Formats: sequence, structure tokens, C-alpha cells
Amino acid sequence: MEDPVNTPEFWEACYESEMDGWDLGGPTPIFQRLATELPKGRICVIGCGRGYDAVTFAKQGFDVTAVDFTSNAISATRLNAEDANVNVTLIKADIFDLPEDIHYSFDYVMEYTCFCAISPLRRFEYDRVVWQLLKPSGKLVGLFLPLDKELDEGGPPWGVTKSELHKVFGLHWNLVSEEMPRDSISKRVDRETLMIWEKK
Ligand SMILES: C[S@@+](CC[C@H](N)C(=O)[O-])C[C@H]1O[C@@H](n2cnc3c(N)ncnc32)[C@H](O)[C@@H]1O
Repeated sequence: MEDPVNTPEFWEACYESEMDGWDLGGPTPIFQRLATELPKGRICVIGCGRGYDAVTFAKQGFDVTAVDFTSNAISATRLNAEDANVNVTLIKADIFDLPEDIHYSFDYVMEYTCFCAISPLRRFEYDRVVWQLLKPSGKLVGLFLPLDKELDEGGPPWGVTKSELHKVFGLHWNLVSEEMPRDSISKRVDRETLMIWEKK
């Protein structure tokens, strides 16, 4: 039987019952910083949730596509983009079943609390999906958490470790940078790592 966490119904229920403890109510300061630092380009935000990060990059002039498989997330992202008066292309789809016409078309994939939301059995599959979305030399910009949780404690969110991230991405990517950001929101300080990986 399929793990319910792999289904949109599981996540729609989280939104509808307000079991959405991941939601910051706004963008992470780390992506606000990156939106001013990274060279402009085409971005895909996967598992975009309510779209705060997607809107942040769109406001800074990036060409943004936001993907989520729930109607709740897509509707909220649409409203947030309208409120901010920016254009965000919305795709309601499972990241493991994306249309081929968006393959190899992005300069960046932005990751925040999508990796830890997906069954850990699918982490190498996730690696392939993200790799396939990017142009040659495209970058995965990932803010990975929670570093302070063991995998066997269950999820979502499932724990991540820096060494596992190196194992998953080390084969098909070159590490550009890795930091423990000092501008995490207070409850996530020391619990998340920012890694930028460039597609080999
Ligand atoms: C923990 S939430 C994070 C949302 C957002 N990134 C944030 O930080 O607020 C995970 C999101 O990923 C979406 N999601 C989970 N698995 C997915 C999949 N296989 N394909 C598309 N979206 C997925 C969920 O619907 C949910 O909106």
C-alpha cells in the first residue's frame, strides 16, 4: 500500500486541519537574502506551500515557477502572488510526475521543507527529479532541515544529516557552498543547513 505521505490527500488534510506547523507565514530571511545575491534566472520552487519564497524571488525579478500537488498550496500561492502584483507560473503536479516540457529549463531549483516532507525512501528519486529540471550547470539551492531529528523518529518532517545530503547529492552534483546560516528564523537556528549544488 502506498505511504499516504506520498499523496496530495495527506497534504490537503494538513492544510484543511491547519496542521501546518512548517508554515512561517512569510518567506525565510535566507531566501530573501539570496534573492538579492543570486544572478537572475529561471527558478522552480518545488513543494512551494503557500508560495512566500516563490513570491520573494519573483519580486526581485526572477522568472518563477512554483510546483505543489495540493489545491490549497496552489490557491494560496496564486493569492500571494496577486497581492504582491508579481507573476508566478503555477503547476499543480506531483514533483515525481512533472511534465517533460519543463525538463532541463531552470537555472535554479529552490528547496525548503520539501525534501524532509517526502518519504526518505524516495531521496535518490528526488535527486533525479531535481537534476532533470535543471539546465546544464543549473543549481539546487537547498535549505535542508531538520538536522536535529533522527530518521527513525519518523516524519514528516523526516530528519536529515549533512553526511546523508553529501551521499545523496555527491554523485551527480558539485558542492558550490555549504553554510549554517546565521539568519535562520530563531526556532530554526542550528537546525538547517544551506547547500548550493551545481549539476555535473
Ligand atoms: C512541509 S510543506 C512545505 C511548504 C513550503 N515549502 C514551506 O516551506 O512553507 C511541504 C509541501 O510540499 C508539498 N508536497 C509534498 N510532496 C509533494 C510531491 N510529491 N509533489 C508536489 N508537492 C509535494 C505539500 O503539498 C506541501 O505543500
